[in-house]
Amino acid sequence: MSVFASAPGKFNLFLGVGPLRADGFHDLATAFHAVSLRETVTVTAAPTLSCSFAGPLDVSDIPVGPSNLVMRAAQAIADATGYSGGAHIAVDKQVPIAGGMGGGSADAAAALAAINELWGTGLTDAELLSIAATLGSDVPFAFTGGSALGVGRGDELHVVTDSAVFHWVLVMSDRGLSTPAVYRRLDDLREARTPGGATTASAPAVPDELWDALRVGDPVRLAELVHNDLQAAAISLQPELADTLAWGEGHGALRGIVSGSGPTTAFLMADAEQAAALADAFTARGRRALPVLSPVLGVRQP
Ligand code: C5P
Repeated sequence: MSVFASAPGKFNLFLGVGPLRADGFHDLATAFHAVSLRETVTVTAAPTLSCSFAGPLDVSDIPVGPSNLVMRAAQAIADATGYSGGAHIAVDKQVPIAGGMGGGSADAAAALAAINELWGTGLTDAELLSIAATLGSDVPFAFTGGSALGVGRGDELHVVTDSAVFHWVLVMSDRGLSTPAVYRRLDDLREARTPGGATTASAPAVPDELWDALRVGDPVRLAELVHNDLQAAAISLQPELADTLAWGEGHGALRGIVSGSGPTTAFLMADAEQAAALADAFTARGRRALPVLSPVLGVRQP
């Protein structure tokens, strides 16, 4: 028997990074937003735990041992319930790898839902959500999807109700960026500006106007409010991102931002037609670009 589940990639419409904490994480205030690029997980009963990856991306560098987030997700369910069987977890990857769009977190969220059903372990969504937070800061949001305020290290969610649709173009990079390296670079940039600046950064907050723009579906207002504190750090590690952002903004985008810790860039567009045109223009320049919609639902099981 096989069980399927899917979960969305995300970007952060607003990512405010507060001080570096003693535990190595940073306090965040972030506006998570799920986009129509989904990871699909198929789990099948097997004597032991294993995983494999396939899809249009180069998946050859993804580790398939116990450290992989889908393996950790399954192990966490086994630990929480005492279940002793195994499973094979096959992931169809569509979200850029090491791209700042929470692809690994989406894999883990979908795996939690699919394994719970395959094994008949009966954990509630609330129980799966608290396991999700132990797997990574972005995993709870991949589970809930839509739009949400994330605080703490990003795992404490306040879901926001909105029904408008936004159009974006995602532009992928050939090289990934390591999330811890981008946070470290931000700390270094803050220290260079003010000694002690990494630990004394002020507490961030998502502006109320951003939630208003989301609710009324106003892309022009939203474009003025999107912000990412990690953007300068990501650009300092991959300077060509600045050219990509400028090019998109010069060719019809209302606004371009680095997605999360990058290097995927997201361009907010006025409508679907403009999004298709910009994606075509990037593709004609040899870039991998995709028009997407937002927001979309979190974990889904057919
Ligand atoms: O929680 P997750 O495993 O996704 O975090 C990966 C890394 O990103 C952390 O080890 C940390 O270096 C950085 N991070 C952070 N503050 C956060 C979230 C992540 O510094 N709130």
